[in-house]
Amino acid sequence: MQLTAYVNGNMLPLQDACIHIEDRGFQFADGVYEVIACINGTFLDLDMHLQRLRYSCEAIAIDLPCPLHEMAARIEAIYHANPFEDAMIYVQITRGRAARAHLPNTMPTPSLIMTVRELPAPSCETLTQGASAITLDDIRWKRCDIKSIALLASVMGRQEARRRQADETIWLDEQGHMLEGCSTNVLAVIDGSLVTHPLDHQVLGGITRRLALQLARQHGIRVVERPWHLHEAGLQECMLSSTTQGIVPVCYIDGQAIGGGTPGKLTLQLRDWLLQHFDELRQEKTHHA
Ligand SMILES: Cc1ncc(COP(=O)(O)O)c(C=O)c1O
Repeated sequence: MQLTAYVNGNMLPLQDACIHIEDRGFQFADGVYEVIACINGTFLDLDMHLQRLRYSCEAIAIDLPCPLHEMAARIEAIYHANPFEDAMIYVQITRGRAARAHLPNTMPTPSLIMTVRELPAPSCETLTQGASAITLDDIRWKRCDIKSIALLASVMGRQEARRRQADETIWLDEQGHMLEGCSTNVLAVIDGSLVTHPLDHQVLGGITRRLALQLARQHGIRVVERPWHLHEAGLQECMLSSTTQGIVPVCYIDGQAIGGGTPGKLTLQLRDWLLQHFDELRQEKTHHA
């Protein structure tokens, strides 16, 4: 199957898509990224992803390669150049190519690359049996609000999760609070309220997290953004949120069953509301077409 990538203004067959070895993304992980989902031609919360991309670029002083509306057009073009109806579009911006020095002599031109893959649906097993997670002390840097391409800690977290036959690693702060996963936010139901770590430098401002909180509030569920522990009395449910998987129940953490070891009611309800929201977006698009 022929896939097409975008590299600095050019659409190329994926196997020919290259970036220079002195690109600072390769040398220093000096860049940021986004993963955007597109379902049947409808981009999910594209504006929010673009705003977060701008936030990440500004935080590390990289100029956006083009205005956001142009970025949206390029994202749409690369989606249409690939064969998937349901796709995830990977967008990466790095500081560009320069002789290797921490501080480049002259400001390089930022690199923009994009690739497209099929959006995998969460397996039925994960939805009916729930995912499992382990917890580890957070070994990442102190600006997790920036969507940096430096993902070594997340790779190590996932490796350890796999070694222990779990699906995700949830990072803990020094007091043992549940922060987020390697590529997911973590939410809990505690005494009937939806609880998740507040937005700060220790977690990414997930687009799906934001939507989950919004949907919960719209349906009259109390939302509390505060640090929380796995061992709190009243912990009933736990879930992961991400663009690529939506909301997924977590039934075991460090081998301990959450909510009796079956997916929680509110978790599944939130997942349904999220899917309904995506259907509405699709219908809006058809309506406007
Ligand atoms: C560390 C981290 N937290 C949370 C998320 C979920 O964010 P979103 O819902 O915007 O995909 C991601 C996604 O890649 C992530 O890498």
